[in-house]
Amino acid sequence: MKKILMVCLGNICRSPLAEGILQSKLSSKSFIVDSAGTSGYHVGELPDGRSIEVARKYGIDITNQRSRKFTKADFDKFDMIFAMDQNNYADIVALSENEEQHEKVKMILNELYPDENRSVPDPYYGGDQGFENVYKMLDEACEIIASKLEQK
Ligand code: 4NP
Repeated sequence: MKKILMVCLGNICRSPLAEGILQSKLSSKSFIVDSAGTSGYHVGELPDGRSIEVARKYGIDITNQRSRKFTKADFDKFDMIFAMDQNNYADIVALSENEEQHEKVKMILNELYPDENRSVPDPYYGGDQGFENVYKMLDEACEIIASKLEQK
C-alpha cells in the first residue's frame, strides 16, 4: 500500500483538491491519499465551498474531507509528501528529522516543471477563476504522479 500526502497552508483550498484528484486517478486497493495543512487555522472544517464546487464540476466529491494539521508523525505514515507552494515546502522540511524524511517532501508542480520549484497559487483571497486555474494545474500534475505510481 503506497501512501501519498498533499499539503498546503489551510488544508481547505489546494490540498483537498489535490487529494480528491489524485485519489480519482488511482486504484483505492493499492493507494492511500490524504491531505493536511501546515497551519491549524481551519482544523475540522470542510474544504472551501469554491474547492467543493470546482471539484464537483469535474465529477469529484471532496465533502468527505475535514481540515487537519500536518504533524511529524506524517513523515512515517506517508511515502511521498507533496507541498503546494514554497512556504509549505520550507515549513514541512523544517519539521523533518533526518534525510529520509526530508527526501519524501516534493514540490507538486515539479512533476510538470522539473526543478523549477513553482508554487500552486493560493486561491483563498481570489475569485472562482483562481480555483479553476488551480484545479487544472493540479489535474495535470496528478496525471503524471498517477501514471508514475501505477507503473511501479
Ligand atoms: P489553502 O488556502 O492553503 O490552499 O487551503 C488557504 C486557506 C486559508 C488561509 C490561507 C490559505 N487562511 O489564511 O486562512
